[in-house]
Amino acid sequence: MAIRNIVQIGDEVLRKRSSEVTDFGEKTHQLLEDMKQTLAKANGIGLAAPQIGVLRRIFIINLDGVLYECINPKIIKQSGKQIDTEGCLSVRGKYGTVERPKKVTITAQDRFGKHFIVNAQGLLARAFCHENDHLDGIIYVDKCTDLAEEN
Ligand code: CO
Repeated sequence: MAIRNIVQIGDEVLRKRSSEVTDFGEKTHQLLEDMKQTLAKANGIGLAAPQIGVLRRIFIINLDGVLYECINPKIIKQSGKQIDTEGCLSVRGKYGTVERPKKVTITAQDRFGKHFIVNAQGLLARAFCHENDHLDGIIYVDKCTDLAEEN
């Protein structure tokens, strides 16, 4: 297990589309463990595989003590809107305002390939949208209206 380096904006790996995951074995489990450690060390809410240089459709979110491991995720339903500030471990020292859906329903597979559904709202919905965007090479700064420096 290892803490990985978090790639910063400007690196082209963050702009590529990640591939579907077909391996639900040891290699993917190891990657998830590394992501978990890296996220904990960075004190973040979410981390997508491309942020550690791996172009696979995987992200994790750790919010309110619940860890979500999402493989091949898809947002299948969304409604409403919320406007709030957002940051990203790949855009150090900045934050900005982004409009997101208020509620989303996502489907994904767990580390064993089992499909599951999550209904999310508020910050969790925002986190799902943000991380899912990373898998398509989209960074929140593309959508934000007022990027600012953190104090
Ligand atoms: Co991010």
